[in-house]
Order: sequence, then structure tokens, then C-alpha cells
Amino acid sequence: MRRKVIAGNWKMNMLPNDTIDFINELEPNIKKCESEVILCVPYTDLFYAISFCQGTNIHIGAQNVFYEDSGAYTGEISAQMLKCINTEYVIIGHSERRKLFNETDEIVNKKVLKALENGLKPIICVGETLEEREQNKAIEKITDQTEKALQGLTKESLENIIIAYEPIWAIGTGKTATSKDANEAIKAIRAKVKEMFENTDITILYGGSVKPENAKELFDEPDIDGALVGGASLKASSFESIIGAN
Ligand code: 13P
Repeated sequence: MRRKVIAGNWKMNMLPNDTIDFINELEPNIKKCESEVILCVPYTDLFYAISFCQGTNIHIGAQNVFYEDSGAYTGEISAQMLKCINTEYVIIGHSERRKLFNETDEIVNKKVLKALENGLKPIICVGETLEEREQNKAIEKITDQTEKALQGLTKESLENIIIAYEPIWAIGTGKTATSKDANEAIKAIRAKVKEMFENTDITILYGGSVKPENAKELFDEPDIDGALVGGASLKASSFESIIGAN
């Protein structure tokens, strides 16, 4: 089923104390919101965030996971490790990980499968570069990434998947895709999922410089179910405004 979702991606920001302050400020103000609210926090904040959000309507996610179960993988975190502290979501294939840490479509797919196998809900990111957009290759790129990320999944597992369309040129740059372009891209992702699984109900978010000022226009589009928010999710007040716009 399509759901309204607003997810924050804190990236490498926020210490445990900041996390607790943020949740204390946000939580009383979003009790009645219509969207599912997710915070994807650094590993070191996970335990605090999960403990503080128990019994609230804030869901907690990690920002990455490794695809092996255990072993000599210094510095990596397994799906089981995340699950055992009650992590619910995990971002997979963010463009920063694809670019800075050489994550390929194959790695993204392995991580998605491993997350699902362990009861985590993946938030899968896809998106094109500026060059690809200028060469009219954006739709081809994102539908290809979607197809590769979803290899080997069952139709039923789509219920536990969120896709985030994040054009790389819009991330952290202050440039947002026009709401029409974002909708067109998300519609194309939905069509690809339908072609693969006969399912049009998957939840798909837009990400890339979403702010209180541009959120409503994006959310008014028929195919956009919400947002994956970076910079504007670091302040409870701006994140709350974005939640209120969906
Ligand atoms: P910004 O909202 O800071 O552009 O970041 C978007 C993003 O990368 C969310 O995953």
C-alpha cells in the first residue's frame, strides 16, 4: 500500500545528546500527523533514538548495512546487529555511498536482500547525475537502478520497501527538481516496479534540497508520497514544517 512518509537522513551529523534534544522537541508536535515519520541516524545514535522513540510515532532507521552475516569485515555492521537493537529501517544505495564508497548496483541489491532477510525495511535510493539529466538519460538511469536493486525480491516484500528518488545534482545544493520533473521520474519508477511485479502501490519519496518552502508543492504531485530530507531534517522545527506539509 502507498503510504505518506517523511524520512530524515542525518548523514554524519548529530551526537547522542543532540538526538535526545531533537526527539524531545519534535515528538509532542507530531502526535497527530498523517505521515509516517522516520529518522535515519548515525550508528552511534541508534540505541538512544530507538529507546527515546519507544511508544511514539517516530520510526528509526540506520543509513547503511553490510551484506554478509558476520566475519572479518572490519568496520562493517550486519543486518542482524541492527535488528537486534530494534532498528526498523535502513537506507541502502544513497548516492554518497555509491560515489564515495564505490557501491555498485550489485552491492545495493545484495544489501537489500540481506536487510529483508533480517526483517529490516530498506529505503532504496536511486538518482541521476546532472550530466545524465542534460543528456536526457535520467529516466533510463533511475529505472535501471531500480530494476537492479529489486532483483530477486518477491512481490510481497515490496510492502516493506520504500524507494527514494534523489537526483544527485539536487542533494545539498539548494537546487530542487521541479515538482513536475520529480513526479515524472517517480512515475517512471512506479511503472518499472509494475512491469517487474505487477504492483503500483509501492511508496516512493523525493529527496534533494527539500525545505519547508518547497515541500507542499512537491507533495501535491500525484506520484510523490513524501520526502527523504537531508539538511532540513537536522532542525526539529524545519523537519516538523515539512512533516506538516505532507
Ligand atoms: P539534502 O536535503 O540536504 O539535499 O539531502 C538529501 C539527501 O541526500 C537525503 O538522503
